[in-house]
Amino acid sequence: MEKIILTGDRPTGKLHLGHYVGSLRRRVELQNSGEYDKIFVMIADAQALTDNADNPEKIRENIIEVALDYLSAGLDPEKTTIFIQSQVPELAELAFYYMNLVSVARVQRNPTVKTEIKMRNFESSVPMGFFCYPVSQASDITAFKATTVPVGEDQAPMIELTREIVNRFNHIYGPTLVEPEILLPDNAACMRLPGTDGKAKMSKSLGNCIYLSDTPKEVKKKVNSMYTDPLHLNIEDPGHLEGNCPFIYLDAFSCDEHFSRFETGYANLQEMKDHYTRGGLGDGTVKKLLYNILEETLAPMRERRKVFEQDIPQVYEILRRGSEEARAVAAKTLDEVRAAMKINYFTDAELINAQAQKYKK
Ligand code: TRP
Repeated sequence: MEKIILTGDRPTGKLHLGHYVGSLRRRVELQNSGEYDKIFVMIADAQALTDNADNPEKIRENIIEVALDYLSAGLDPEKTTIFIQSQVPELAELAFYYMNLVSVARVQRNPTVKTEIKMRNFESSVPMGFFCYPVSQASDITAFKATTVPVGEDQAPMIELTREIVNRFNHIYGPTLVEPEILLPDNAACMRLPGTDGKAKMSKSLGNCIYLSDTPKEVKKKVNSMYTDPLHLNIEDPGHLEGNCPFIYLDAFSCDEHFSRFETGYANLQEMKDHYTRGGLGDGTVKKLLYNILEETLAPMRERRKVFEQDIPQVYEILRRGSEEARAVAAKTLDEVRAAMKINYFTDAELINAQAQKYKK
């Protein structure tokens, strides 16, 4: 069986370091591993509109931001099909059929949807489109027969629902769809990178993000103001690692090799952590190392971004071509789905014959 990846992001803002370690870095690695037959990365504008119906301008502007983030992070349109969800209308059709296979109660139990409804104060009036987005996500995945979906853990309930829909569909209509597997980030720090204020997660509304497109000055300022250990007042005091942002970020970004290259005096992160908890290591030293490591990742991205920013029509052309390619693949799956569901009236000669026989006098 072919190995196929599909994943994506809602274009509601620029991408930040949480997106990077949670999924973007992995996508680039998977792309360059050569192990996958096809890779699709989708800008989920239709999904973003489910809770931004009154703000299409925001979605429109962020499509190009997200595309620039993708390209500067190293997604290569020669190897990865980057496309825009709304430009593949087959996805909406597929979602319409899947809605018959899922109960309202099933979606109501989805923990991610539950949290999002609370966060958006939708409790008394949830838009139908928003409520149904987990079902539409199942069509995003299955339209491309994806075997692997690299996402953060908040997306796990969506993949679970997709697998249920696939099983239900194949059981009723015959084997047609492929059951996907989730691919989660490597460690806890990558799974849930906290904001620079130490709050649960990076989020635009909390203003605690480091963006991939931030300048070195912005990155430095944000790293220097990171939440550490409020009890670590003097360098000699023993420090605590729990909830200590610079150390959590080092968990997500550093490797042993960084420690020799930046001449830290430690062989690895563990030695540095030990010194911190013993006492005698200041936050400033930890932050400086983190800044250097982050800049090593971000500087080449900024360079690539500059080039693409000077040729925006070319970026749209990449998205247009990607969407065209994606549409062809989704259309082929839709043909199979319609045949399995027996709604392929005009291409099913057997059906036409049978009906003709039935009515013939
Ligand atoms: N829900 C995802 C997010 O908020 C975006 C998304 C839409 C997606 N369709 C998808 C992710 C299909 C993976 C697969 O980031």
